[in-house]
Amino acid sequence: TILKQEGRSVDERLQTLCEYLKAEVSYYDWVGFYFRNGEKEELKLGPYAGAPTDHTIIPFGKGICGQVAVSNANFVVPDVTAQDNYIACSLTVKSEIVIPLFVEGKNIGQIDIDSETPDPFTEEDERFLEFVNTEVAKIL
Ligand code: SME
Repeated sequence: TILKQEGRSVDERLQTLCEYLKAEVSYYDWVGFYFRNGEKEELKLGPYAGAPTDHTIIPFGKGICGQVAVSNANFVVPDVTAQDNYIACSLTVKSEIVIPLFVEGKNIGQIDIDSETPDPFTEEDERFLEFVNTEVAKIL
């Protein structure tokens, strides 16, 4: 129902989705979408809820997000300080989960969630966010 909002653009629907997820799950402190920037080997920030970030463009391979753009696999980070290839958006962030978004089998972006809680993400979050992404794929 969040995604099926008549007369609203994709960006508006995703914005509402980000705000909804951030509000509903206590340990989701920043929720956003990154999408492949055209044919370039980089990600561009899309709709998000939470503190503004300077990282609106992320090259493929860089940070957790950039690695998922290349690996096509979920990336759960229980402790961001243990990651070498990590881009800090905020010093209060303790953990992160990134789930790739596939359209017709192609990795076209991802949902990225930061948490200020250490090690909060479970397989349930992975399954739930995979479901969210399959629903998002239908409106793109
Ligand atoms: N931490 C991410 C960068 C994006 S911010 O979390 C919004 C990364 O390492 O890719």
